[in-house]
Formats: sequence, structure tokens, C-alpha cells
Amino acid sequence: MTTRINPSILAADFANLEHELGRIASADLVHVDVMDNHFVPNLTFGPQMVGRLQQVSPIPLDVHLMISDVDRWAPGYAELGAFSVTFHAEATEAPVALARRLREIGARAGIALKPGTDVEPYLELLPEFDQVLVMTVEPGFGGQSFMPETMPKLERLSRVVRETGLDVWLQVDGGIALDTIGIAAAAGANTFVAGSAVFGAEVPEDRITALRDAAVAHRH
Ligand code: DX5
Ligand code: ZN
Repeated sequence: MTTRINPSILAADFANLEHELGRIASADLVHVDVMDNHFVPNLTFGPQMVGRLQQVSPIPLDVHLMISDVDRWAPGYAELGAFSVTFHAEATEAPVALARRLREIGARAGIALKPGTDVEPYLELLPEFDQVLVMTVEPGFGGQSFMPETMPKLERLSRVVRETGLDVWLQVDGGIALDTIGIAAAAGANTFVAGSAVFGAEVPEDRITALRDAAVAHRH
């Protein structure tokens, strides 16, 4: 089983993003948080910025859309060439149609669940997705504390993925650091987003290695 570490550039220096990408060369993917100040109470950047990142980044982009009206906006991020596009379950009435559209364009399709969103209704949709993102904080800000109460959701997903043999990556995002990554790995996560833990480190590359080692040590 592969363990992926996806640093979130939300915690990077926005005025030097190309340089920041150079500090995380061993990352599996670059996590890009798009926020619209509507779905979440914070604002980051949109397609123009993501398009430019796509041009300069040697690492594929893992786009996390924390925006409303995803049916309208998500396909555009796939068209920019993002490796994966993850939208929130709470932001669309038609997750399957949108996932199919994203895959058709050539991106991996991801669905994200806020901490309070039940996973049960989405289990039967798993074949339509390449990734499920279990939010381990309320979306909107970096640097928050990991919520262990979200772990049963991950355990449930992990069991279903194992039983069905589906190739769906299980991602966690929020408060992932050296002291929490093992908890998420033990619950079945294999793809880890880390913002402040990576960019707040003296040497981000070393932190990526340490996070990866901690995850591998705890996975089952
Ligand atoms: C939060 C974002 C996260 C954020 C994580 O809503 O989705 O990707 O960057 O930041 P940390 O790792 O600092 O909790
Ligand atoms: Zn994110």
C-alpha cells in the first residue's frame, strides 16, 4: 500500500509559491485549497492562480475545492490539468454526474466530507470516485486541531474499500502532524494532507520524510 504525503500550500508563502514548491520536492502531490468565502468563511485563490501553479509545478496538483456551486466551477479545474479535483459532498446535489464529468476530462474525482457529514449515503457511490477526503477539521483554515471523532468514518470507508476491492484513496486533511498522522493511518487513511506541519518545519523535506515514516509505522 502506498502512503502519500500532500503538503498544503495554504501554509506556504503566497508571494513565493514557486520557490516553496522547491522545498517539498519529495511530496507526492501538492494540495491546493480553493476557498470562496461562501462555502467556508475564508478566501484563497481561483482558477487563474491554480492554472499558473499547474504550469510551474513539477509535482501534480491535488485541488481541494471549498466552494459553492461546484457543478459550475469544478470542471474548469480539471480542464487546467489538475491531477485530482475534490469537491465537497455538501456543495452539490449531483455528485455522481460531477464525478463523471471530472473523470471524462481526465482528472481523478474526489469527494470531501465535513466532520459533521455522515458517510453512509456515499458508500454506494464509491465506484464513481478515485478519492474520498475525510476532513479532520472544519474546512476553512490551516493550523487547527485534529478531530479524532472523525476516525470511525475513515474506519468504515476503509472496511468498505477493502471488502469491495475498489481502488479509492482515503485522504485526511486538517491537523495532520507527527503526533496525529499515526491515528489516521491506523484508521485506514493512505493519503495525508499537511499544511502547517510541513511548511512550519525548518526543513520541510525532512518533515515529509518523518510524516511518511510515522504513517507507515501505524498503517495496518
Ligand atoms: C483546511 C484546508 C487544509 C489546510 C490544512 O480547510 O483544507 O488543507 O491547509 O492545514 P493544517 O495541516 O495546518 O491543518
Ligand atoms: Zn484542504
